[in-house]
Amino acid sequence: MSNNSFFVKSYGCQMNIYDSQKITTILESKGLKEENNPDNADLIIFNTCNIRDKAAHKLYSDIGRIDKLKKERTIAVIGCVAQAENEEMFKKNSSIDIVLGPQSYHLLPQMMLDIKNKKKQINTEFIINEKFDYLSEQCKPQGVSSFVTIQEGCDKFCSFCVVPYTRGPEYSRSTSSIKNEAKLLVSQGAREIILLGQNVNAYEDNTSNNGEKLNQLIDHLSEIDEIKRIRYTTSHPINMSDQLINCHSTNHKLMPFLHLPVQSGSSKILKKMNRKYDRDYYRKIIHKLQHAKPGIEISSDFIVGYPGESERDFQDTLDLIDEIKFTQSYSFIYSKRPGTKAAEEDDLVPTSIKKERLKILQQKLMEIQYSFNKSFCGKDVEVLIENQSVSNREYFFGRTPHMQSVYVKSENLVPGDLKFINISTCNHKSLYGSC
Ligand code: SAH
Ligand code: SF4
Ligand code: F3S
Repeated sequence: MSNNSFFVKSYGCQMNIYDSQKITTILESKGLKEENNPDNADLIIFNTCNIRDKAAHKLYSDIGRIDKLKKERTIAVIGCVAQAENEEMFKKNSSIDIVLGPQSYHLLPQMMLDIKNKKKQINTEFIINEKFDYLSEQCKPQGVSSFVTIQEGCDKFCSFCVVPYTRGPEYSRSTSSIKNEAKLLVSQGAREIILLGQNVNAYEDNTSNNGEKLNQLIDHLSEIDEIKRIRYTTSHPINMSDQLINCHSTNHKLMPFLHLPVQSGSSKILKKMNRKYDRDYYRKIIHKLQHAKPGIEISSDFIVGYPGESERDFQDTLDLIDEIKFTQSYSFIYSKRPGTKAAEEDDLVPTSIKKERLKILQQKLMEIQYSFNKSFCGKDVEVLIENQSVSNREYFFGRTPHMQSVYVKSENLVPGDLKFINISTCNHKSLYGSC
């Protein structure tokens, strides 16, 4: 079986996409060519996500479709479903050749050699330090806004969530390798660095004895002149230290926008979710952030229909949304995940009610987002230009400090520019302007 070209598909979060980019870099360095069409590839890589039922199901239907093409090829399933289902995957679909967890995917090139001797290859160990060592200096240009993974894994064990099982325990990468990667990205055109982690604000450099924390890392990165903006995601409320909150006040490259998922506004549900904070604790953190950085905006994730969520609990979530006025959010219907604590509970909320609650919640979030966007109409907003439309060269895309998408008509911009743009119109998703 020849392995000259590969196709990779991502199913998951930002870190899953980042991992796919790393894999692409590794394989290209071994002389393989990336194919955009799976029909033409010798190696097909599915980089999977297990967070909700739907994402995991989609994988098997995609493999089924590939099967029908009959071409002799290698199929590798990597990522969080691979970790969760392990060798079961070979039983579920016999065309899978390689199964690799998210903390061992750097072994893929070796496995492709080994597969010539042994048909099925698997590794789902948490060898994350080895992975980071291997990957640290390898990265593909990502553009003006670039991601750097600084932390992986989770020790929190929220009752509904698979991540602690699929990504393993919390692990932080060394500050020196993060800085090297950031410098490389800057040399490739990055002007904004988004620090990534499942619990990014739990970051602590445990590879050296200085134990550098996230606020210190942000301060160091902001010394790189070309970096104009810094963001970090995703944070857990219990790791919002006073030092990190203060960094929002003192570091002007740190953007006034924070993704801080609350999940529910009901203290009863938060306790059942094992989120380790209650409604008031979350509100207090937000107040501290608003005090440190007036004008900071918050986004969140919400889960509706968690087992035992009453009308009252749901109303608590709506009330919290009214109070905090989250300007962007993701919201999901609770999905029962095998192996998690919540899976042992009876799923008491009927599907029709879950759907209805999601609709009400999303409507409210959309209205808040729209009125926030409207408040910028007629004003000048600083936008970091990320790219230029390929089909119409007069149009550019960028983002505001609050992460709003902006479409700009201009004849004198280039990606990487940081410019004040006059906003003429908007909808709930985007702003439109010119310069
Ligand atoms: N570490 C982050 C989020 C990781 S997962 C945090 O703690 O907030 C991204 C989001 O998926 C979560 O915030 C949650 O809203 C959602 N999610 C996770 N498990 C889920 C499940 N079983 N059902 C529905 N949504 C889920
Ligand atoms: Fe999942 Fe909770 Fe960990 Fe976030 S903090 S990754 S929701 S277990
Ligand atoms: Fe999915 Fe794994 Fe990310 S489960 S959300 S790909 S950490």
